[in-house]
Amino acid sequence: SLDPYHVSEEFGFILPAPLAELPPYYQPWMDIAQHVTELIYSHMLRSHILKMPLLNTQLLESHRELRLAHLALSVMTMGYVWQEGEDDTVKMLPRNLAIPYCEVSQRLGLPPILTHADAVLANWRKRDPQGLFDMENLELLVTLPGGDSVRGFFMVTLLVELAAVPAIKSIPLVINGVQCDDAETVTRALEEFSQAIQGMTDALKLMHDVSYVVPVYVKPEVFYGIMRIYLSGWKDNSSMPAGLVYEGVQAEPMEYSGGSAAQSSLLHCFDELLGVKHEAMSGAFLTRMRNYMPPSHKRLIQDISLQPSLRGFVQQQACEPLTAAFQLCVTKLLALRSYHINVVSRFIIVPAARARQLRNQGNISQEETVSRAPTALEEKGTGGSGIMSFLKTVRDRTRDVFNLK
Ligand code: ALA
Repeated sequence: SLDPYHVSEEFGFILPAPLAELPPYYQPWMDIAQHVTELIYSHMLRSHILKMPLLNTQLLESHRELRLAHLALSVMTMGYVWQEGEDDTVKMLPRNLAIPYCEVSQRLGLPPILTHADAVLANWRKRDPQGLFDMENLELLVTLPGGDSVRGFFMVTLLVELAAVPAIKSIPLVINGVQCDDAETVTRALEEFSQAIQGMTDALKLMHDVSYVVPVYVKPEVFYGIMRIYLSGWKDNSSMPAGLVYEGVQAEPMEYSGGSAAQSSLLHCFDELLGVKHEAMSGAFLTRMRNYMPPSHKRLIQDISLQPSLRGFVQQQACEPLTAAFQLCVTKLLALRSYHINVVSRFIIVPAARARQLRNQGNISQEETVSRAPTALEEKGTGGSGIMSFLKTVRDRTRDVFNLK
């Protein structure tokens, strides 16, 4: 069963029914968190945060309260650090924010920075509570600069998480099947698994589907030129080389990576199940990203990795439908990763080339949205990886699993 891992039958790694409000005592936080975007545009966020009272976190009780508090404190922190862009950052996060943020982070086992678990997994509500879990009916709880594209980016990512739920549910079936030497059960579970990965790729296509979707959910120039800096962190980032001091918590600066899809537990689980082995550099990054997940989700990944090898079982059984089902899973995972590389080209590589071109022409006007992007993130993911070589290496290691002799 997946219960001990806080993985839901209906929602997978998504936090079911996130709270939208904290107890009234925390209103000073929510008043700022719900207006972070406007306060950044008016250059007033830092001064508002400096005037905020230091609140006691002991009044936060439930897991859902803690998750909303972490989300709210996270968007305030990203806004505080990046309010003036990459050239005018801060060395210190003020104590009124830093102290409660680190306390809440510690209780959740999450780092004190905006993560996938905040911005995507715990940042949604339905407009019509009886309505569907789809683009039209989903709303963010808190947002960052970038308008509708922020909603589009986080919600499409959320729909990928939802599409993965049948795959997550099939994992225990696969593991049990291997334990009971039951090739037929494993085959059926793997068929289910591969279909769900196809569903994830289909959901990801909403990120940039101009063929029939009426609204474009995420505009590449807005994503590249405006949004990315607010997702980026203070590790492996040349505009924050010294990290960030969390005042009142620790005198030495701390370094934390920005948001990354590598913080989603999904592909970590899939790789462990299918036996995908990562290389030194990309493997180290992926392993480090597990510390940016809710601890129970990280535990699921580790427990999958301790199971007897599925790939070994498939080889040993040498049974045609089983082998075919396994190969199909790898094919679908490969296709998902290739499509992701495609998305990154459209949303990062192409706009980055345009920004560079404008710079070389001496055109430093801010008229083109892409020109507003931080140069520190031109070649990097917001999580700090060398984004393209990282994604291609990970894809190539996925391909290696095919070799079933
Ligand atoms: N990791 C994504 C990026 O680099 C969000 O923009």
